Amino acid sequence: MALSPVDKDDVARNWTARAPAWNKWAERVEKMARRFNEPLIEAASIEPGMQVLDLASGAGEPALTIARAVGADGHLTATDLLDDMLEGMRRRAADAGLSQLSCEVADMEALGFPDGRFDRVTCRFGIMFVPDPVQAFREALRVLKPGGRTAWMVWGPMQDTTLFDVIQHEARAFFDLGPVPDLPQFRFGSGGLLADMMSEAGFADVEEQELKFDASPPAGSKFWEANVEMSFAEELAGLDADRRAALDDRIEQGFARYLDGDRYRVKAHVRIGTGVKPS
Ligand SMILES: C[S@@+](CC[C@H](N)C(=O)[O-])C[C@H]1O[C@@H](n2cnc3c(N)ncnc32)[C@H](O)[C@@H]1O
Repeated sequence: MALSPVDKDDVARNWTARAPAWNKWAERVEKMARRFNEPLIEAASIEPGMQVLDLASGAGEPALTIARAVGADGHLTATDLLDDMLEGMRRRAADAGLSQLSCEVADMEALGFPDGRFDRVTCRFGIMFVPDPVQAFREALRVLKPGGRTAWMVWGPMQDTTLFDVIQHEARAFFDLGPVPDLPQFRFGSGGLLADMMSEAGFADVEEQELKFDASPPAGSKFWEANVEMSFAEELAGLDADRRAALDDRIEQGFARYLDGDRYRVKAHVRIGTGVKPS
């Protein structure tokens, strides 16, 4: 199955518009997404003292958690295509006194690091936005030390993650944007694509695992609020208070069918691809 194409200029424009919302909601989203960090960090076998490169790091996670895991004797290099997206990372790393974390602008298709520089390369929810993922995997392979390990997390199909499914359908209908298109964030929704591309790039011992989660946020908790702003930043800009309230009502109604007593019952689906640089 072929990947749908993405255009890097569109990606950059889109993330530039979304960056302030990601910075604003970084702490809230970290709490929600913490459960994604554990399996990724385990899959990457991160240990104290390691030199780790995190790609498409965005506003903080999993880079901040990995920086804590490598400790003061290790180092975490957090990177992103856009400096604006790293603003939340810099703020939070400084607040936490994490001197073993540094930030750099880097396009994962053309990394500026020397060959064999890192023990580990990680990426959470970033490879989907890259026009040529095999090229990004080749770059990760190049900057890893021989025997070094890599782990990449992607979303499964949109309909398997309730949060995105409801927000995309309801917000797109509200803004009159037409049916939900093939969104880049779900490009690796089909099983096997990630592993095939990692193998094509030259990784050994490639494995792809599938993880499904259930969550039960309290009724009326607006647990979706951050994701609405982080996904529809451009459309929300300039929306007056009445229209914003109407959008929130519509989204709340969309989630109402997942109510079970005093809790929503929602699910999420991710995949993790792992591989090793041949020695
Ligand atoms: C969904 S966010 C992921 C942020 C963070 N890793 C997380 O899991 O919350 C996707 C990020 O990919 C970045 N990105 C898109 N294309 C990229 C590229 N070619 N190289 C590096 N980063 C890229 C975007 O700027 C954005 O910050």
